[in-house]
Amino acid sequence: MSDDLSFQLKCIDCAKTYSADQVRYRCDCGSQLDVWHDLATLKPQISQNLFNNRVSGAPGPTVIPTAESGVWRYREMILPTLPDQIISRPEGNTRLYQHHSIAEWAGVDKFYLKHEGENPSGSFKDRGMTVGVTQAKLLGSTAVACASTGNTSASLAAYASLAGMSAFVFIPSGKIAAGKLAQALAYGAKTLQIEGDFDDAMHLVQEVCNEMGIYLLNSLNPFRLEGQKSIPLEIIQGFQWNPPDWVVLPAGNLGNTSAFGKALYEAKELGLINKIPRLACVQATGASPFYQSYQTQFKEHITMKADTIATAIRIGNPVSYPRAIRSLEWTNGVVTSVNDQQIMDAKAIVDQAGIGCEPASAASLAGARRLVEEGVIKPDETVVGILTGNLLKDPTATVDYHTGNWAEAKFANAPVKVGADLDSVRRVIEKEL
Ligand code: F0G
Repeated sequence: MSDDLSFQLKCIDCAKTYSADQVRYRCDCGSQLDVWHDLATLKPQISQNLFNNRVSGAPGPTVIPTAESGVWRYREMILPTLPDQIISRPEGNTRLYQHHSIAEWAGVDKFYLKHEGENPSGSFKDRGMTVGVTQAKLLGSTAVACASTGNTSASLAAYASLAGMSAFVFIPSGKIAAGKLAQALAYGAKTLQIEGDFDDAMHLVQEVCNEMGIYLLNSLNPFRLEGQKSIPLEIIQGFQWNPPDWVVLPAGNLGNTSAFGKALYEAKELGLINKIPRLACVQATGASPFYQSYQTQFKEHITMKADTIATAIRIGNPVSYPRAIRSLEWTNGVVTSVNDQQIMDAKAIVDQAGIGCEPASAASLAGARRLVEEGVIKPDETVVGILTGNLLKDPTATVDYHTGNWAEAKFANAPVKVGADLDSVRRVIEKEL
């Protein structure tokens, strides 16, 4: 791979390049790196038909990532020199849902939800992890690590186990949803509950990886982002390469924001699409450093002590900040914020439609609604919201909402205590019919 100049690591600031076969997360100048593809070389190899012809049939007992994975389908744009062994569950191929009550809540006619909670470990992280762990294997790493608010750790734990590697996950003590902690433990990762928040854990894991030669698999790692590029690629392919007007997504550490912008920029350069959808990044008010920086036109780089019910995005100092600003430039994007009440109401709307998501994911719908109310998104525009994680990831937040532990639970569906006899049950059911 070292001789392959079709893709390299490239600094997003000073443009210095490095070969892709080394363990490196930052440029010598300290800035972040991209996996940078030579788009001129790639262009003649890429077409809509190439990807259309790869949409797979029924999966068999053996995983064939290049046929079944919604990530490896786009391999030329992700990791052009395919390694012999790809670590895949497989991931991607998630549904785009439409539901009248959700569109009504958002205030637009055409509102779709891309459900990334349908990935193997229940979040979009699997798309980045299949590439990150495959790259780790290729580089000869035997141990991988990440800091996480929960989903990255669940995904890393699963993929590391598949690959036969040791996994170390750094999580904030408390403030991690039960489903995610359960996954990290069950898949066998060594789980370090750091006495601090996610931002502390993120700082620490970088130090530990540098000191101890463990491969870092946070989204600081540019290969992770290459995998996550497949989300917008799948969306535009799902729309027969006529992109929607907007893609709305929750924003925490800003990995997805960075990956989405890069994917859409590359898709346009490669001639797959004629227009780039606008990105709308949504933060929780209590964890909104990027939104606050955006309001200063990024003249100030704001960080904060974060807190929100949406623990997945409880981040006050997002790592991919500079790459995310570039994504907004590429996509004429916007940033907004929504409070916890708006998040939980939007979640109830998604849940009641039979689709369901974890709290952070509902920021997409809540944010779209705010942007429609403000006239930024027009009611006749086509909008795709990203549901980043599965409903079952955070049972506590959901049960609290429905059982009286949430002050203004407008859509609460509390369980009913009932005697174990026909008459008692009949009285309850008759009231509902
Ligand atoms: N939604 C969910 C469900 C997440 O788990 C995350 C991030 C995000 C949205 C935000 O995405 O960081 O790319 O801006 N979770 C990370 C984790 C931080 O550790 O699982 P982002």
